[in-house]
Amino acid sequence: MSNLIDGKAIAARVKEEVAREAAELAQRGIRAGLAVVIVGDDPASRIYVNNKKKACEACNIRSYEYALPESTSEEDLLALVEKLNADPAVSGILVQLPLPRQISEQKVIAAISPEKDVDAFHAVNVGKIMIGDFDFLPCTPAGCLELIDSTGVSVEGKRCVVIGRSNIVGKPMAMLLLHRNGTVTICHSKTRGLREICREADILVAAVGKPKFVTADMVKEGAVVIDVGMNRLENGKLCGDVDFDAVREVAGWITPVPGGVGPMTIAMLMRNTLSAAKLQNRVQA
Ligand code: GUN
Repeated sequence: MSNLIDGKAIAARVKEEVAREAAELAQRGIRAGLAVVIVGDDPASRIYVNNKKKACEACNIRSYEYALPESTSEEDLLALVEKLNADPAVSGILVQLPLPRQISEQKVIAAISPEKDVDAFHAVNVGKIMIGDFDFLPCTPAGCLELIDSTGVSVEGKRCVVIGRSNIVGKPMAMLLLHRNGTVTICHSKTRGLREICREADILVAAVGKPKFVTADMVKEGAVVIDVGMNRLENGKLCGDVDFDAVREVAGWITPVPGGVGPMTIAMLMRNTLSAAKLQNRVQA
């Protein structure tokens, strides 16, 4: 039976630390602020945005919400981003994805000032992560790394397998593990011999988007298993990419869903917003 990694508790500690630092910064006249932009009324996006606003309150960070209609033009959204780039009260800008079809996500991400890009999605920030000299880490991979660190298991020299190659999770996750001197394999839908590759992993990160995709026969005894999946089942329940009940019998450490990676992503967003405020005000990190 594996040890549970309590993402909710670890996220709460990170948020407390951010709240304390943000309050200290405010005493020096610097208020961290996060602008959250949501276009349309996707229910999942609405929940994420509400959670981000709540976290800002708990962390002494101001939040500014911009809720735009589904029919918003690309031009109008780009104009809003430009306005937020120039606003000194806004330390971080987060445009909730996905965006409606008429708007290019890449164009919008490219328009965000890299100094305010708290998602770390801008090509400048992606490039900085690649060379290991970065201001922000993308929130979900950074949260996963924090959870791995909480186990006391060192990444150095270990076999790490990331399932999923998205720009938001899989690719940056692999890079962060590589920076920690892990030996990293990225798997995806075209990978042959996935089960055998996963069975080699001391650290296995699942970011596939398919419920219970990772089964017990894919996991090495004692491995650290991080489940990034957030799949909504027909019965309304949330389910990860890992078959939790079976895999917990094999793994050494495992994250639950919910209560694992999800809360960490928001905690890391708070940390990034605080870092952005410091960066823009030339405060030492
Ligand atoms: N939609 C789902 N996850 C994310 C995220 O991390 N950032 C943004 N901006 N949109 C998302």
